[in-house]
Amino acid sequence: MRNHTIAAIPADGIGPEVIAAGLQVLDTLAAVSGDFSISQTTFDWGSDYYRKHGVLMPADGLEQLKSFDAIYFGAVGAPDVPDHISLWGLRLPICQGFDQYANVRPTRILPGIRTPLRDCGPGDLDWVIVRENSEGEYSGSGGRAHKGLPEEVGTEVSIFTRVGVTRIMRYAFRIAQSRPRKLLTVVTKSNAQRHGMVMWDEIAAEVAAEFPDVTWDKMLVDAMAVRMTLNPKSLDTIVATNLHADILSDLAGALAGSLGVAPTGNIDPERRFPSMFEPIHGSAFDITGKGIANPIATFWTAVQMLEHLGENAAAARLMTAIEQVCAAGIMTPDVGGTANTQDVTDAVCRALEGRNALQVEEA
Ligand SMILES: NC(=O)c1ccc[n+]([C@@H]2O[C@H](COP(=O)([O-])OP(=O)(O)OC[C@H]3O[C@@H](n4cnc5c(N)ncnc54)[C@H](O)[C@@H]3O)[C@@H](O)[C@H]2O)c1
Repeated sequence: MRNHTIAAIPADGIGPEVIAAGLQVLDTLAAVSGDFSISQTTFDWGSDYYRKHGVLMPADGLEQLKSFDAIYFGAVGAPDVPDHISLWGLRLPICQGFDQYANVRPTRILPGIRTPLRDCGPGDLDWVIVRENSEGEYSGSGGRAHKGLPEEVGTEVSIFTRVGVTRIMRYAFRIAQSRPRKLLTVVTKSNAQRHGMVMWDEIAAEVAAEFPDVTWDKMLVDAMAVRMTLNPKSLDTIVATNLHADILSDLAGALAGSLGVAPTGNIDPERRFPSMFEPIHGSAFDITGKGIANPIATFWTAVQMLEHLGENAAAARLMTAIEQVCAAGIMTPDVGGTANTQDVTDAVCRALEGRNALQVEEA
């Protein structure tokens, strides 16, 4: 029996609601699979912890997480805590401290879910967005001087290193190579940003030479937003900087029906540290406590986590269950349904157990 240790960090807003749902589904999946188990440890870090202790996680937080096989993260952010403090106090120190430099965001239109795009259905939009996750615009480099004075200055410096760009390009080309269309689009802004972004383009071309079987093209980020909306079928794997991919993947989530279905994995490809899996969405203050948060993104990121842990059969089984439940119309209001978080969770568990997912409606 294989065992995997998972550190759960539900954190804020709807994070605890969707992580509880995800852990229930993982328990059911392990039980029906029978050949692996999951040991979960939950950490109470986040904005409540900050209110009590003045920090979002303890100083030895990374040390505590280090020995786990993976991290299952909810969302961080609260109305009374400045966003830059919550993000830089919890999620980013984990991503950067564990050098999870590849942020991987699969996007598809799931059966039964309507996209806002006309003439686009399941199969017409099937992307993997690879986001550089360790430097670029979110390197944290910059500062403020003469605070509050008329001559105040604030700088936010984008950092691109040859090592950082080369490794994310290689990772993206490898993902593209592993997919049937072997197609990669490199997003850039090298017309206006003439230093780091030009280096980004040059390194893309260098790395492309290592992957002669991958067809690739280059797209300015503004034109990319248009192409994603008007010609989604022309795209497959996409690589972009930290900021560009952050924005484009929210667009991707919306085009796939809702942020509530969009998953992401923060991966350390070298496996020196645990990787972290989370829904793309944030704390969603407007629906917190209402029981209607869509748990699909959190289930889908569990699929990514299982693949990372080598549990490919269980990952495929969970993805099939998710698709069955969506196809059956058991969905939360953000994607046009009337079900709540628990209904969707129970339906996925029933589908995993081989029972008709629709039975949940009658239960
Ligand atoms: N990874 C993270 O932890 C993360 C990501 C984004 C935002 N945040 C934080 O979350 C807080 C709120 O940010 P925001 O409002 O910009 O983004 P958000 O993702 O929390 O919400 C945006 C909109 O999407 C809806 N939504 C999001 N997830 C949903 C789900 N699972 N089911 C149904 N609807 C869903 C919300 O109701 C809201 O209308 C802020 O503090 C922000 O900093 C955290």
